[in-house]
Amino acid sequence: MVGLVASAAGGVERWLADGLARPLAERGWRVAITVTPTAARWLEPHLDALRATTDLPVRWTSRLPTEPKPHPVPDAFAFAPATANSLAKLALGIGDNQALTVLCEGLGRGTPVVVLPQLSEDQAGHPAHRGHLAVLRSAGVVLAADLAAVLAELDRVARPRG
Ligand SMILES: Cc1cc2nc3c(=O)[nH]c(=O)nc-3n(C[C@H](O)[C@H](O)[C@H](O)COP(=O)(O)O)c2cc1C
Repeated sequence: MVGLVASAAGGVERWLADGLARPLAERGWRVAITVTPTAARWLEPHLDALRATTDLPVRWTSRLPTEPKPHPVPDAFAFAPATANSLAKLALGIGDNQALTVLCEGLGRGTPVVVLPQLSEDQAGHPAHRGHLAVLRSAGVVLAADLAAVLAELDRVARPRG
C-alpha cells in the first residue's frame, strides 16, 4: 500500500488524480490519499476523480479519538507535490495537519518516502531550504525530479502487490 500525500502547489488540482493516483493504482498499489487543508480546498471539484482511484477515504482532517484509523499503515509514501511550506515542516517534524502527521510518523518508522518538491526560485532560495533537504536526504528520503521518477522510485523502494 502507498500513502499518497499532496500539498497546495500550483497545478496539483489538474494532475493529482490522472497523473499520479490512477497510475499508482494501475501499477498495483492500493492508494491511501491524504492532502493538506489548502490542497483540499483546491481539489474539491476533483474529489470524485481522486476517490475513483482508491477504495479508501480521501483524507485531510484528523479522526476523532473515538474513531478507527481510516487508513492502514502504508509500505511507502509518495509526497507529491511537496510545497516549500510542507517540505520544511516534514524536515522539522511538524505534524500540524493530517498530511504532515502521516508523513512525519512514516519517516519516524523508517518507511520509504519519495518526494517531488515544487518550489519557486524564491522559495528555494530561503536560507533554511538547503538544510531541510539535507535532513530529508539523511533520513533516506528520495527526491524525485518528475512524476515518472516518483513512480519508478516507488517501484524500486517498495514493490506493489502482484
Ligand atoms: C496559485 C498558487 C500556486 C502556488 N504554487 C506553489 C508552488 O508551486 N510551490 C509552493 O511551495 N507553494 C505554492 N503556493 C503557495 C502555497 O499554496 C502556500 O505556501 C500554502 O500555505 C501551502 O500549504 P500546504 O503546504 O499546507 O499545502 C501557491 C499558491 C497559490 C495561490
